[in-house]
Amino acid sequence: MTSAQRADIGVIGGSGFYSFFDDPERISVDTPFGAPSDDIVLGAVDGRRVAFLARHGQGHRYPPHLVNYRANLWALRSVGVRQVLAPCAVGSLRAEHTPGTLLVPDQVVDRTSGRASTVYDEVGPVVHVSFADPYCPQGRSALLTGAGEHFDRLVDGGTLVVIGGPRFSSRAESQWHQAAGWSVVGMTGMPEASIARELAMCFSTACLITDNDAGVEGGGESVTHEEVMRVFGDNIERLKVALREAISRLPEAESDDAATCPCRRVLDGQELPIT
Ligand code: ADE
Repeated sequence: MTSAQRADIGVIGGSGFYSFFDDPERISVDTPFGAPSDDIVLGAVDGRRVAFLARHGQGHRYPPHLVNYRANLWALRSVGVRQVLAPCAVGSLRAEHTPGTLLVPDQVVDRTSGRASTVYDEVGPVVHVSFADPYCPQGRSALLTGAGEHFDRLVDGGTLVVIGGPRFSSRAESQWHQAAGWSVVGMTGMPEASIARELAMCFSTACLITDNDAGVEGGGESVTHEEVMRVFGDNIERLKVALREAISRLPEAESDDAATCPCRRVLDGQELPIT
């Protein structure tokens, strides 16, 4: 692997993000967990080395419950990535968070099941990582600042609940999520965030609200995939600009801020299974 095939920042997103780079290079990466969703595309954004990975693969072929989250994070880590920005589409659980709003959560609830959710599933050293604060404070801050000029409806904080999908929630499930006080609902945020933490990678997400979930006042009809894709498409360009600006605001890889980030210290004293 040449130095041009390394990057310290990773972006996991939809294929609309490929146009991020001036000088893209695709590389195929294998992992102990199998192949990631797609090749990694490496390039520069404002002088920073960035690795992009399409979460759902080419042609959006992997639905949320079949994404190989372990391989995706491992592949990014193996090209040097230590800071991941992973935008996603979500439904709103609160009437005040209307479609088109960008919410940068500070908490997550995992309601998925049956997804391979740890890289430590061999018999061997037992690893328990702290996850009280699931998102990187530096990544969140960069995302909020980067999005500031581009999203007039920008929310700092809130809880993302991740469901298994691929179906949307029933009205009762949605009302239950709302009553629990959670903010938005999506299908991809977990175990992406916790696997990143297991690999001592900084990770944060920006949730683009594409719809009111079924149980929300004003939600009315069931959510449809068409609606989600349409609203996401309407907002993809400004989301890309916001991400570019967020990237330029992340601490440099070799800086003290990066080195001392709590996300990266989570395995201190334990042996990482990756170099
Ligand atoms: N992604 C976008 N909208 C969603 C919703 N309402 N529920 C789950 N995932 C979503």
